[in-house]
Amino acid sequence: MIEKLAIDGGDPVVTDGIPKGMHGPSVIDEQETNAVTKVLESQNLFRFSDNSEVLKFEQETVELLGVKHSLMVNSGTSAIICALTGGGIGPGDEVIVPGYTFIATAAAVVAVGVVPVIAKIDDSLGLDPTDVERKITLHTKAILPVHMQGVPGRVDQIVDVANQHNLQIFEDCCQCVGGRYRGRFVGTIGNAGAWSLNFYKVISTGEGGLVFTDDYEIYERSAFASDPAMPMWVKDRAEYIQVGDTWMTAPFSRPVLSSQ
Ligand SMILES: Cc1ncc(COP(=O)(O)O)c(C=O)c1O
Repeated sequence: MIEKLAIDGGDPVVTDGIPKGMHGPSVIDEQETNAVTKVLESQNLFRFSDNSEVLKFEQETVELLGVKHSLMVNSGTSAIICALTGGGIGPGDEVIVPGYTFIATAAAVVAVGVVPVIAKIDDSLGLDPTDVERKITLHTKAILPVHMQGVPGRVDQIVDVANQHNLQIFEDCCQCVGGRYRGRFVGTIGNAGAWSLNFYKVISTGEGGLVFTDDYEIYERSAFASDPAMPMWVKDRAEYIQVGDTWMTAPFSRPVLSSQ
């Protein structure tokens, strides 16, 4: 445990300076190359096979985040799409999103047939809870706070607003992978969280994403949203069947991420 932050005169953990450009790929070295080669040599490329790398990453993130369920997908955008679908959010609904975010946050909301309603941000860089409350209508089903640039937003106040109005919270943690709010990992406070593992993130597999939640129903519906063939594996969930989209990911991602 660090006694004093470097900014307060403690010993810096990183002495070389933060690499410029694409953060994730900037740290790729032999460790990742060897790990990916091993996956290729194993020929174990099926996401659902015993001991698959995707299942391993899901298990690792369940343990790290202290959540019950985690689903690896192919991007942060699809993680948000799956999480919203998992929460039963769909056409006719509205979801409140911040005016300051990457376009994928609102695009994911539109992709599930839902209207993104834009609320103001404040100096947390995230949603202003007072403006969120102003934007609630009869159609609002969820709030989608975004923790921008590694900085958690006003989570406690957003939770209060959500509880008062019976709304779900889906946390976009795509820019805050591994960030914590009052000791808890962001994304584990609302109903579900979403990570991006793209080329620009602190851990990166080029493209990748993760949905995580304590709620089995959100997890199961998210899994159906990620894979149209899910009814082959789980037979009695006809109401979850999605047509068309596949957001599954390849097994090369996990060894790269775990090395990082
Ligand atoms: C805040 C935010 N949300 C969502 C996304 C989408 O993630 P991805 O590019 O992995 O689809 C990003 C990606 O940069 C992001 O910054």
